[in-house]
Amino acid sequence: MKILIIGGGGREHALAWKIAQSPKVTGLFCAPGNPGTADVATNIDIPADDIERLLQFALNQSIDLTVVGPEQPLVLGLADWFQDNDLKVFGPSAKAAQLEGSKTFSKDLMQKYNIPTADYAAFENANEARAYLKGKGPQVIKADGLAAGKGVFVCASEAEAMDAICQIMDNKIFGESGSRIIIEERLEGQEVSLLAFTDGNTVMPMEAAQDHKAVFDGDTGPNTGGMGAYSPAPIFTPELKQQVIDKIMVPAVNGMRQEGIPYQGVLYAGLMITSKGPKTLEFNARFGDPETQPLMMRMQSDIVPIMEACADGTLDSISLEWKPDAAVCVVMASEGYPGSYAKGRTIAGLDQAGSLSDVTVFHAGTKQMGDDIVTSGGRVLGVTALGGDVKQAIEKAYQAVDKIQWQGVQFRKDIGQKALP
Ligand code: AMP
Ligand code: GLY
Repeated sequence: MKILIIGGGGREHALAWKIAQSPKVTGLFCAPGNPGTADVATNIDIPADDIERLLQFALNQSIDLTVVGPEQPLVLGLADWFQDNDLKVFGPSAKAAQLEGSKTFSKDLMQKYNIPTADYAAFENANEARAYLKGKGPQVIKADGLAAGKGVFVCASEAEAMDAICQIMDNKIFGESGSRIIIEERLEGQEVSLLAFTDGNTVMPMEAAQDHKAVFDGDTGPNTGGMGAYSPAPIFTPELKQQVIDKIMVPAVNGMRQEGIPYQGVLYAGLMITSKGPKTLEFNARFGDPETQPLMMRMQSDIVPIMEACADGTLDSISLEWKPDAAVCVVMASEGYPGSYAKGRTIAGLDQAGSLSDVTVFHAGTKQMGDDIVTSGGRVLGVTALGGDVKQAIEKAYQAVDKIQWQGVQFRKDIGQKALP
């Protein structure tokens, strides 16, 4: 089989690393990929959102399966274009990807199908939003459309919430993505993510994973795309997992089908475990980054037949096995991230770190410059280790992190601590 992976971050390197191990694969391409994916696949210099050129490439190469990493190409309709040209895609249609691409679509679906989530109201008029907010206490303000993970303001006071409305709706910091907003109740509890494969009928949950969104230790500082992740997550007992499957994942997939918008690919539920049970913070239409890095290292089964079955509607005939080990991913980032940061810093120690047993160094924001690998993004590497338990995986991951150096590297020192007894 010839497989094309779309994207070029840490998630896509982890997917490429796993897919490359499948005996079914005879050719593996990654567009645009990164120096990490170049070790296991052929990088193709086409941006992830240039759907026309990606389609031409897939047709020319007779690609058997296209796996979409990021949300942008899905929301732009990559799956629809490819399927119209008889190309198989792992990932939802543009309409189905609204589950991530439009927060009001997603909240309306949750409300209609009784999926537990925070109470909310949607607004297209800033003054109406401000009037609603008066006297409400701590609230969360969300831009409706995609905002590169930055469109959510968790506000401690009414003044902060008013300011968020002003930035999103009056100052239009997210452009059209902020022409509609959601105001929702602020939930308290521990966060966890559950990802599931689905073909639109069958829901096949993965193991739980937990990322670390804040940039600094102790969950302080601004939110990032994710500074690290671990799997499994001890808070996620088998009973809790079943509850999430029954009350959130299955109703979402069934609801989409009933709406005439069947959903195929990975469904990612961001959850808050509140005193009143699990509630849905958001749905994503794709794998998480960096959750995918530990998940791929723990997955025992060949992932390719699972992805094919999602696209073919035959997921009920497939099983999914996991290694009993735990996995921990520590993201090494550029100083200044998630704000502005320098690029082009030479990275040392990649080979020493990568040669440790049970360690894989997934590339995210890196670039090849002559013989050197240099930094080229905010999140640069996802150093991921397997261990007998989370404690061992943490130790191994940080041993590897210690071997890697560049000027202005930053990383959290407490990844996975929440999972320790
Ligand atoms: P989202 O993109 O909707 O997942 O939001 C990003 C982050 O904001 C989440 O991971 C939570 O940490 C936080 N968040 C979102 N919605 C809420 C809420 N209703 N209550 C508390 N925190 C929230
Ligand atoms: N790590 C969070 C996400 O991928 O959305």
